[in-house]
Amino acid sequence: MPEVLIASPVRGALSGSVRVPGDKSISHRAVMLAALAEGTTRIEGFLPGEDTLATARIFSMLGAVIDWQNEAKTKLIVHGTSGMLRAPSGVLDAGNAGTCARLLLGVLAGQPFSATVDGDASLRRRPMRRVTEPLAKMGARFFGATDHLPITIEGRRPLSPIEHRPAVASAQVKSAVLLAGLFASGTTCVIEPRATRDHTERMLPAFGQPVHRDGLRVCLEPTGVLRAPKQVLSIPADPSSAAFFAAAAAIVPGSKLELTGVGINPRRDGWRRILEAMGAKIQTHRLQSCGEEPVADLHIEGASRLRGVQVAPEDVPDAIDEFPVLFAVAALAEGRFELRGASELRVKESDRIATMAEALSRMGAKVQELPDGLRIEGQASLEGGCEVDANHDHRVAMAIAVAAQRARKPVRIVRAAEIATSFPNFVELGQAIGMQLRWEGQ
Ligand code: S3P
Repeated sequence: MPEVLIASPVRGALSGSVRVPGDKSISHRAVMLAALAEGTTRIEGFLPGEDTLATARIFSMLGAVIDWQNEAKTKLIVHGTSGMLRAPSGVLDAGNAGTCARLLLGVLAGQPFSATVDGDASLRRRPMRRVTEPLAKMGARFFGATDHLPITIEGRRPLSPIEHRPAVASAQVKSAVLLAGLFASGTTCVIEPRATRDHTERMLPAFGQPVHRDGLRVCLEPTGVLRAPKQVLSIPADPSSAAFFAAAAAIVPGSKLELTGVGINPRRDGWRRILEAMGAKIQTHRLQSCGEEPVADLHIEGASRLRGVQVAPEDVPDAIDEFPVLFAVAALAEGRFELRGASELRVKESDRIATMAEALSRMGAKVQELPDGLRIEGQASLEGGCEVDANHDHRVAMAIAVAAQRARKPVRIVRAAEIATSFPNFVELGQAIGMQLRWEGQ
């Protein structure tokens, strides 16, 4: 995929009905649990993005057999290993995928062999002690670094059950500990500082493994080998991807857009609540469930007037991945938008507070960087006519592409190829609804 995305001012309104690709978080978990299970799991709606394909490749190296059922790589059959992964013959490369790396370490903690997990330059910069520390307490051994990739882990079985209180609200940490807990000799609990996405807890029961939640406390008592579900495991459209198009429709007056089959799990739905508080018109239709997850069709209309809001720190986890695009909308809303209590954004695929502040300022927005958030004074349109650096961060690249729809001049977004990690057909689908996007040279 080319590195440079050209995003230009929209001509007219956005319209149409599209389905964005499958949920990234759920796709990772589906492959991992299926690989650990006894029997064959059928998965549909899988995200064929670089991140989730890395997970599929890694679990093949660990002994699961994956049969792709279509060329698009959205349907697959996974022949599980009954919990006995095999030692890999090479380094397990998670690429850009934090979820892959952190959950994988949890799984490997319970496997009686050693393996090395690595990632790209961005993933190598991201903090890993938040998972290696509890996994070491459970009995996993580490050789060399425990704070950053590459990390060599030697698992063992059984692990010691722990009660873990992570300092940060992180679904990846919670999931890594719960996955290790599958191989523990008793009940493992995680007590979260704030509730985070619960896809792991929703999916494990479908594999025969109950999980108990009491407020912020989540516990798992292993009941034996996971069993492949009889039903097809269907994955909703990713709300984090849908948010880019919803935001684009919201900032372009006259737009009318439908996004079908989108996950509306409350722990992923913060972006919708914040956009609505800013004045966006979003309706939900055809509410139903997709496996263990609620989904709906979202209808978005362009708003004639959006306003800035103050986001409360307790609302951060439910929208953690959508702040780049919410910042883009805020730059085009009336009044002040302020986010605090979100220093976790500094350790995502890039430092999203710094990269978004820099990118939006270059486009002409009034942005003030705070240690743990961002303050934005909105305006009617952005100047554009500049080059911005997405810093290899997929969501920064797509957020700037959304903001550019309401700029006066085109924006050249460099180091944007990582869009393929989570939303490989972003440009095609964006064009289909009327967004002005193209890869440079195409
Ligand atoms: C994810 C959890 C979040 C999120 C990431 C996906 C997951 O990360 O930002 O994109 O699938 O569990 P943290 O656990 O670091 O908050």
